[in-house]
Amino acid sequence: MADKDSIQETHNYHLDIPVNNEPFRLKGSNSLDWGMKNRLSNIFRPETGRAVMLAIDHGYFLGPTAGLERVDVTIVPLLPYADTLMCTRGIVRSTIPPTFTKGIVLRASGGPSILKELSNEEIAVDIEDAIRLNVAALAVQVFVGGEYETRSIHNMTRLVDMGNRYGIPVLGVTAVGKEMARDAKYMRLATRICAELGASYVKTYYVDEGFETVTASCPVPIVIAGGKKLPELDALKMAYNAIQQGAAGVDMGRNIFQSEAPAAMIQAVGKVVHENMKPKEAYDLYQTLRRR
Ligand code: R5P
Repeated sequence: MADKDSIQETHNYHLDIPVNNEPFRLKGSNSLDWGMKNRLSNIFRPETGRAVMLAIDHGYFLGPTAGLERVDVTIVPLLPYADTLMCTRGIVRSTIPPTFTKGIVLRASGGPSILKELSNEEIAVDIEDAIRLNVAALAVQVFVGGEYETRSIHNMTRLVDMGNRYGIPVLGVTAVGKEMARDAKYMRLATRICAELGASYVKTYYVDEGFETVTASCPVPIVIAGGKKLPELDALKMAYNAIQQGAAGVDMGRNIFQSEAPAAMIQAVGKVVHENMKPKEAYDLYQTLRRR
């Protein structure tokens, strides 16, 4: 308890220094509450406003995916290079060291396996459990145009309501069905729906034509999924093009953990995302790092 006898007179009001009232720079996020902004700052690096999310949630419908057979062996060593980890609560509790203090983006939807209709998902986590795990955001799959479109969107809006109650952002993950065209028109539709219905940020796929119209018409940040494994230089080009066309980061899985040198690859991706490093230079860095 403070000693009442030695209270000093206040005198230093710094009258010449205006109160610092800087805006929150993340796109579309300035009106969010402090807790939301704080959590988003544990996903998007405040210095750059961008994020390298390492996505390892594939097992929630695919089982032990190539590269994720032993998360303790292959993924935990990559954690120092990721800004954020996207995974399920099962992997968080069983395998991720609690000393990992960067953002966890928790996979919060699920249900069907790869053997069934994937759009038939439900919310797969309780908000109290997400709070208990101290997550930075909740991720939910949204199947615009899919068989269970309305259900998946309803999953997202319910999570947004729960997240808003406790200051937890929601990542809307646009899932493109096999029968749908992966073009800018579809991505504009899907990302905008996620943002309009309350997602704090949205994950989508990069498209070669018109990706800048996708980022322009989405009022919140967009991160790109990596998609299927590409040669490393091609994956770095994709990340570079997405960033230059307005993406706020990557949520990359297979192109990192299925790379021949995952630690080198995630560091090269980090340079592209945070330092605008050109793909060829980042690839040279990848080659140098993999030889170490
Ligand atoms: C789907 O399995 C998940 O949402 C993944 O997190 C997402 O597809 C990103 O992983 P990748 O870069 O391997 O596509």
